[in-house]
Amino acid sequence: MDVTFKIKRYDPEVEAPESYWQDFSLTLDDSATVLDGLIKIREEIDGTLSLRCSCRSAICGSCAMRINGHAGLACKMQVRLAVDDDNVIIIEPAGVMPVVKDLVVDFDMFWSKIMAVDPYLRPEGPEPDAEYIASNEAMLHLSGVTACIMCGACVSDCTVMEVDPTFLGPAALAKAYRFTADPRDGDAQGVSRDRLEALNGPTGMWDCTRCAECVEVCPKGVAPMDRIMALREQAINAGFDNTYGARHAEAFSSSLEHSGQLDELRLVPNTVGVFNLPVLLNMAPEALRALTHGKLPPIIHKKIENADRVRKLFRRVEDPDRS
Ligand code: FES
Repeated sequence: MDVTFKIKRYDPEVEAPESYWQDFSLTLDDSATVLDGLIKIREEIDGTLSLRCSCRSAICGSCAMRINGHAGLACKMQVRLAVDDDNVIIIEPAGVMPVVKDLVVDFDMFWSKIMAVDPYLRPEGPEPDAEYIASNEAMLHLSGVTACIMCGACVSDCTVMEVDPTFLGPAALAKAYRFTADPRDGDAQGVSRDRLEALNGPTGMWDCTRCAECVEVCPKGVAPMDRIMALREQAINAGFDNTYGARHAEAFSSSLEHSGQLDELRLVPNTVGVFNLPVLLNMAPEALRALTHGKLPPIIHKKIENADRVRKLFRRVEDPDRS
């Protein structure tokens, strides 16, 4: 098939470097992957095109890049599935991380965040006489998250990291969950209190906005956002419930449970604390703007019709055996 690769390029060695687009037209087998196309371009058309790759089997994670605007593995994506109606495919370097050259990005930020969550088991208490025992169920549960190949696709498309690089991010938090959910980590009951306490702070688990991009783009089904949600649950269950994030979740769900709809007016004070005057005063201009634009939520919060059915749903989630 005849294909056009539209590639975003960047050469740091030219004077005043700026990224630019370059088109490459080539003929590929129907079974070719995006990586096959890029290697063909590098070997036969332009030897200066820079990219990373190794296994060509979706194992090493080195060929992550943006394909048609979303992160993915170039060696996993077939060209025939990626082209548009004009047989064009758009290739860019992975996002969030700084570009080194063409499709190669600097992974320092990625690795420093992984290292920040101590990516190794930290069992507490006395060592067992023999090996640490972990149940089959626990290991099967972890197999989803241990499938991560550290390709950085989730980080590339994380909408929070795009604007706040201090956020630990989906890869590091999923890696953290790999240990907090491991019965060999933490205390004798497998509760990793120290980890959860650290991850519960600013830039940690509560900064995820649940856009689900990481779930969409992960080529291995790790579903990092789901792991972050599980971390939140672990933290609350371990008693770390006095954070904006935990209070926000509590205020959100209790409002829904009570009236069947969100009480937006009280969500903020219930999240930051009704007596937290500095923060509330800080938000006053925004509230005033909402008021003048007719966007202020109703002062009197009403129950929806059939609110009892929503309450029933809550009860069923809390106790699935209850009818
Ligand atoms: S080259 Fe190894 S994952 Fe693509």
